[in-house]
Amino acid sequence: MDTNEAIPPITDEDLELLLGDIVEAYGYDFSAYAWASLKRRVTRLFSIGRFASFAELRHRIRTDREYLPRFIEEITVNVTEMFRDPSFFRALKQEIFPALSTYPFIRIWHAGCSTGEEVYSMAIMLHEANLLHRAVIYATDISPAAVKQAASGLVPIRHMKQYARNYIEAGGINDFSAYYTASNNQVLFRDELRKHMVFSTHNLASETSFNQFQLICCRNVLIYFNSALQERVFNLFDQSLERFGFLALGSKESMRAAQCYNRYKQISKQKIWRKIA
Ligand SMILES: C[S@@+](CC[C@H](N)C(=O)[O-])C[C@H]1O[C@@H](n2cnc3c(N)ncnc32)[C@H](O)[C@@H]1O
Repeated sequence: MDTNEAIPPITDEDLELLLGDIVEAYGYDFSAYAWASLKRRVTRLFSIGRFASFAELRHRIRTDREYLPRFIEEITVNVTEMFRDPSFFRALKQEIFPALSTYPFIRIWHAGCSTGEEVYSMAIMLHEANLLHRAVIYATDISPAAVKQAASGLVPIRHMKQYARNYIEAGGINDFSAYYTASNNQVLFRDELRKHMVFSTHNLASETSFNQFQLICCRNVLIYFNSALQERVFNLFDQSLERFGFLALGSKESMRAAQCYNRYKQISKQKIWRKIA
């Protein structure tokens, strides 16, 4: 079936009903996601699932628990890469690591880690700064499939050329290929990196803080949320950050609208803020 084949437009009312079903049946609330992108993604799901009607899609979601992870996968955007925005990783090394090196234990949270490429990038940078041995990196995402993939340490080999270029641009100092072993069409990152990581599902829209961190990275996640949900998440991060801790966002994101903004100072144009009060 051609996914562009004309399908009836999904109305706001349809979408509200569907999201209501999901909250009721599973407790996941997507109603504060940016509406236009949500609608596009549900339309796509409707089309590729070959549902005869919107009621049929609602029925499937309400009655088939196995279908929910598929739904989450489809409506969340999992695009990621290693050393994404290499200049961010340079800033990390130059402006944050010196402060982190003063702590005996370093706790970092990657919220919305997707399939983990960003987490392995962080571990490599910490290793090269001789900080990994005292660090724990908590990596969470709403999508169980993404978390499972991240925890496996496996990355498709076809991306590695690009990632090696990003690594060098990010200021990497070793032979990138020393961090993984390749087999067939995948690479497996070394246990020395993975043993400092803790993976778990965590929903930023509904769950609470679970630790205190010196660095929280939540890059390219808030763009999918409306302003009320963004405020919830800023509040959660504010509660989860130690004083003088750092918050890193994606290149198109800002914490300027957050209510806690006056306690933060932007320390890098690479979207890094520090909690100063
Ligand atoms: C575009 S990816 C960003 C991945 C990575 N941080 C990066 O910058 O490359 C956005 C991720 O946010 C996750 N996400 C969306 N809604 C979420 C929520 N409510 N709680 C936690 N993670 C969420 C998605 O599953 C997805 O993996």
